[in-house]
Amino acid sequence: MSRTVYLNGDYLPEEVAKISIFDRGFLMADGVYEVTSVLDGKLIDFDGHAARLERSLVELDMGMPMPVEELLAVHRELVKRNGLVEGMIYLQVTRGAPGDRDFVFPDPAEVPQTVVMFTQSRPGLADNPAAKTGLKIISIPDIRWGRRDIKTVQLLYPSMGKMAAKKAGCDDAWMVEDGLVTEGTSNNAYIVKGGRIITRDLSSDILHGITRAAVLRYAREAQMEVEERPFSIEEAQGADEAFITSASTFVLPVVEIDGVAVGGGKPGPVAARLREIYLEESRRSAI
Ligand code: PDD
Repeated sequence: MSRTVYLNGDYLPEEVAKISIFDRGFLMADGVYEVTSVLDGKLIDFDGHAARLERSLVELDMGMPMPVEELLAVHRELVKRNGLVEGMIYLQVTRGAPGDRDFVFPDPAEVPQTVVMFTQSRPGLADNPAAKTGLKIISIPDIRWGRRDIKTVQLLYPSMGKMAAKKAGCDDAWMVEDGLVTEGTSNNAYIVKGGRIITRDLSSDILHGITRAAVLRYAREAQMEVEERPFSIEEAQGADEAFITSASTFVLPVVEIDGVAVGGGKPGPVAARLREIYLEESRRSAI
């Protein structure tokens, strides 16, 4: 069935929604995006995603395409029009289509941004079987640009990382820089040692995950110890548990890193508990 998507103020059948070949998102990856999950037809962590969108845009000398309340209304309208119960809303804002290719940014007063939003139905998102089996990951060098805190659409290297993992019979890849894990291809990375949750501290080296912020908040509220510092692949391999977080996976355990079993090769209790708390709290505060 054809989706109804949002493009620059219009709700259109997906086959009809088209953007220019001169769009800077297409030519230069000059755009940012957000992925907001939907459970029970409601948005999870919408405010966090909206705030990060604004930050990404401002860092790239762009402004919000519309007020946050309007953004929320479009998200909700897409959920409604598509009967979305469980899945995600993808949003992308680019610097627009100046009508030619030029490295210099166009004047925003002359070239409007391109704003695209669409739904992705994923029944069973909350009931992911990987929560019980765990993920196998490989490590790859992190050769991305230095502003990974901006959620840009430059996703070629993360895609290559996922393909390398797939080729190795694994599920995903963690990226490593200067001997330390930065993050997963599309998620934040964690280990657990002696009950303590360890994850890289926030900087321009990683994306400031909205799920990360919520999970760490819930962990602290549940009196779990949290340490924000980098760790190596070797430390992760010797940890009691490892896991990832993102808007599309919530919390998922990692049971193997570069062929070495973590925590006996079985998902651990901390990741399971955090997944449970996250889903419970997210459902409660969904809008
Ligand atoms: N990815 N790190 C990277 C590199 C990511 O691409 C993502 C999200 C995260 C987790 O952020 P959040 O918790 O806000 O989803 C961390 C999304 C889900 C994607 O690209 O599909």
